[in-house]
Amino acid sequence: MFNGLTTTKALWALLWAACHISRATAQCSRDALLAAANSYLEAQASGTTTGLQISGDNFTYMENNKKADIAKGLLSQPLKLDLNRSTADTVACASYTMFISTTGSKPYVVGTQIRHQPPDGSANGTASITMIDTVRATTGDLFFNARQTLSYIEKEDWSPIADAARRPGRDALRHAGDAYLDMWTNATAAGSIPWGTDCERVEGSMLTRPCGQTLPRGGSARANGQRRYVIDEVVGSVDVLCEFSSLGAWPDSHEIRIVDGKVKYVHTITVMRQ
Ligand SMILES: *[C@@H]1O[C@H](CO)[C@@H](O)[C@H](O)[C@H]1NC(C)=O
Ligand SMILES: *[C@@H]1O[C@H](CO)[C@@H](O)[C@H](O)[C@H]1NC(C)=O
Ligand SMILES: *[C@@H]1O[C@H](CO)[C@@H](O)[C@H](O)[C@H]1NC(C)=O
Ligand SMILES: *[C@@H]1O[C@H](CO)[C@@H](O)[C@H](O)[C@H]1NC(C)=O
Repeated sequence: MFNGLTTTKALWALLWAACHISRATAQCSRDALLAAANSYLEAQASGTTTGLQISGDNFTYMENNKKADIAKGLLSQPLKLDLNRSTADTVACASYTMFISTTGSKPYVVGTQIRHQPPDGSANGTASITMIDTVRATTGDLFFNARQTLSYIEKEDWSPIADAARRPGRDALRHAGDAYLDMWTNATAAGSIPWGTDCERVEGSMLTRPCGQTLPRGGSARANGQRRYVIDEVVGSVDVLCEFSSLGAWPDSHEIRIVDGKVKYVHTITVMRQ
């Protein structure tokens, strides 16, 4: 009886350790995630996907919240990119890339999350891509003006926060992303977000400064749904792709950057069609 109990305890301890070890080793490297994000940008610039390390047996391509054929989607047309930047989520094995293209036959502002198979024991650190999830806005979408957006975003500083003590934690970032999207249905959500005094909000091409002005305080019955997260503590950012159900079934990206515990930037991309 006594022995049985100790054995059970020991087994649980082993199991606990095994879970934690496998969770730790399942993390993807930041460099590998950002390299894959760059391969995505090169694919977009060239209009060919051959350079992407796509998983052979588990791959989904999404465009504006719908499954689509990668061979016929935005990636099949070459675009000149005026600006791009990427963040990495080493826990979720995912990245977020934003780019702006002003000079093609159609201008675009695009937010893309890329998900990877975590490397298993046999992998060599190059995790393969299981999902490319793109929200792409163009002329006619919410406050759309790619040149205007570019003029704001190119002046922003999204470089990694060198001093680890100034980086926000994962939970704070997740809360900021969720509370922001909850503002339309929850009257107290806005008050739970640590707005910075000199922060900037770029919604489509509409600038609001400081960003904590003119916020929604509930009123909608439908919560913003289908939330997908990329959380990067090093940059201090969270991106949430979602369906902006509070206002319409609109594909949407909301990205927030926090520095020194306060919101510094908000950037949104909202597609006004389903
Ligand atoms: C993305 O931006 C970087 C500079 O931040 C630039 O060096 C790179 O060429 C851009 N990539 C593409 C595909 O345009
Ligand atoms: C590393 O992984 C990639 C992608 O799975 C593969 O193409 C390559 O051959 C591997 N390299 C080694 C040295 O195992
Ligand atoms: C396929 O990839 C997704 C992420 O894009 C992951 O959540 C899922 O577990 C993967 N499925 C399998 C069978 O590996
Ligand atoms: C509304 O937001 C506040 C602040 O984040 C939170 O404490 C509360 O639980 C939320 N209410 C609901 C119904 O989700």
